[in-house]
Amino acid sequence: MTGPIVLDCDPGLDDAVALQYALGSGRYEVKAVTAVGGNAPVEHTYRNARALVKTFGVADEIPVYRGVGGRLTRRIEAPAAFDFHGASGLGDEVADDAGVPEQSESAVDALLRLSRRHAGELTVVATGPLTNIAAALIADPGFAERIRLVFMGGTVSEPGNVSPTAEFNIWHDPEAADLVVASGVDYTMVGLDATHRARFTREHLARLEAAGEALAFTVRLMTFYFGSYNHFHRADAVPLHDPLAVGAALDPEYLTLAEGTVFVECASPLTSGQTVFLHERDVAGTSLPEQLTARALTSRGKVATGLGTKDFVEDFTAVLESWGSR
Ligand code: BDR
Ligand code: CA
Repeated sequence: MTGPIVLDCDPGLDDAVALQYALGSGRYEVKAVTAVGGNAPVEHTYRNARALVKTFGVADEIPVYRGVGGRLTRRIEAPAAFDFHGASGLGDEVADDAGVPEQSESAVDALLRLSRRHAGELTVVATGPLTNIAAALIADPGFAERIRLVFMGGTVSEPGNVSPTAEFNIWHDPEAADLVVASGVDYTMVGLDATHRARFTREHLARLEAAGEALAFTVRLMTFYFGSYNHFHRADAVPLHDPLAVGAALDPEYLTLAEGTVFVECASPLTSGQTVFLHERDVAGTSLPEQLTARALTSRGKVATGLGTKDFVEDFTAVLESWGSR
């Protein structure tokens, strides 16, 4: 067991199967789902997240909270990814959230409350832009001391997937991401250096197709994901971005990790959202403005530089296959 977790997400095709993997593995104590704007505006991701807990049969156990809609500091409307994730954000699905209660508490307040109740034990797995996490840190900087954060986002050596240098979640709200990695929170960044190597193939999909009717919804989501990925990236296997972050929250052996400091480019229109990683061993030999050196000495995290010794794609597929036979 991981101990208590909150999944902060923007469903989103891969966010959806990340939640299903967490539930299906039986190894996560999911206390809440918090929705954030990203792949789709928050009205959609909140509805989608509520539809997902219903579809996955946990609507009575796992409350879903509505998070922040826009970007943290930019007033222009945040761009969604409907072209990739479909008009609803969940491929061709029409989110059925009927009967799933709306919570009056906000995602930020729920995150803060749960972080106090489970201080030092709570893991927040963020698979969307880091807007909710940054907003929680602004409301209460002590949040950083009480949680461990595993987030999907960023890239060190891989090209970006939404601009030449930026990964979508960080690019969507760079100021939020920079605030989070500078906050002193214990974080693990699971970026494209790892997720682009966690490739779910047509053979894996065929195993889910063979697993029965209980996986029909999942198969439809993954099939849509294959279509989008092929269209935009010309590849016939899809990266398990968000599921890998969930997996890594439980088992760091899915990743190869390095320790150091992440900075997020917020100013340049060309490289906005780029994550710059300074390995801890390089701090002394690198010339940076004083403020950034100070940050490199105080705000450290772990960054995935590749996959680890355990095969996440196989474990993910096996968990979903067993969902099909339950
Ligand atoms: C990330 O961007 C989103 O489109 C996915 O859900 C994932 O969280 C990958 O860059
Ligand atoms: Ca996501």
